[in-house]
Amino acid sequence: MKIAVLYGGISGEREVSLSSGKGIIEALKKNKHEVIGIDFHPDKMHELIDLDVDLVFIGLHGKFGEDGRIQGLLDMLNIPYVGSGVLASALAMDKAKAKQIFDMHQIPTAKSSVFSITENTDKEELAKTINATFTTPFVIKPNREGSTLGLTIIEDEEQVKNAIDNAAASDKSILVEEFIKGKELTVPVLGYTDKEKALPVIEIIPKNDLYDYESKYSPGGSEHIIPAQIDKKTTEKIQNYAILAHQVLGCKTYSRVDFILTENNVPIILEVNTLPGMTPTSLFPDAAKANGMSYEAMIDTFVKLSVV
Ligand code: DAL
Ligand code: MG
Repeated sequence: MKIAVLYGGISGEREVSLSSGKGIIEALKKNKHEVIGIDFHPDKMHELIDLDVDLVFIGLHGKFGEDGRIQGLLDMLNIPYVGSGVLASALAMDKAKAKQIFDMHQIPTAKSSVFSITENTDKEELAKTINATFTTPFVIKPNREGSTLGLTIIEDEEQVKNAIDNAAASDKSILVEEFIKGKELTVPVLGYTDKEKALPVIEIIPKNDLYDYESKYSPGGSEHIIPAQIDKKTTEKIQNYAILAHQVLGCKTYSRVDFILTENNVPIILEVNTLPGMTPTSLFPDAAKANGMSYEAMIDTFVKLSVV
């Protein structure tokens, strides 16, 4: 097949996507596809149209890649692509909207509020409101961003004003969420058309206190325990929540669903990633490998699921 891989892009997760794209391109080549890698910029849409490809593999992350916008352009151009469509991508990228849907389906979420930041926002007042509503520790993060960019764990009320600026630098919609203490878990989901399947639950032990950008992408920055050291009943519960989350957002082909397992054994969903990382330190490829699926076989599965 002739496949274009879009990678890089213009989001805050550009560096991550450069690495995901490299892996995806190498795997597709090993799988004997004709591959054209495009370090994506909106100006390159013409290049893509002229290529007349059979499929686009979106190796982008974050804004303009994972949020439904590129998917909409490809739909209009009638070019098939790997992964979720416009609505699921946009919903998953908007953590606050996705959480409303999870609540409707009884998937436990952390208590949160979302605030829009405009040039008229009085940040002192907003900080006061946030401090009056949430008890430390709590989290302030951009509502639509990835890779922990712009996230602050608030231990002290004094941090709130800077944290608002830090989050708003990525997204004018900011999410304030209670901090859930517990195990950091994630579940890759494969979207087979007849029945979605969850891969093993991964437990993440970051070397830093927080599973932040550095722990995510530095070699050895975190340890992935596969399968997670949790009992069978809890494992199944989390896998079922992951599949349900994938389904209720309307995701396709693949996703990775992040959770915190509380000290009382309650899985709290954080978010669904519709284009999870495919880098050498990424989680989805590790779980696939633990399940007997090589990186190349995993990429091939995504392709096959996209052309049925
Ligand atoms: N947002 C990054 C790429 C991930 O979830 O893996
Ligand atoms: Mg994410």
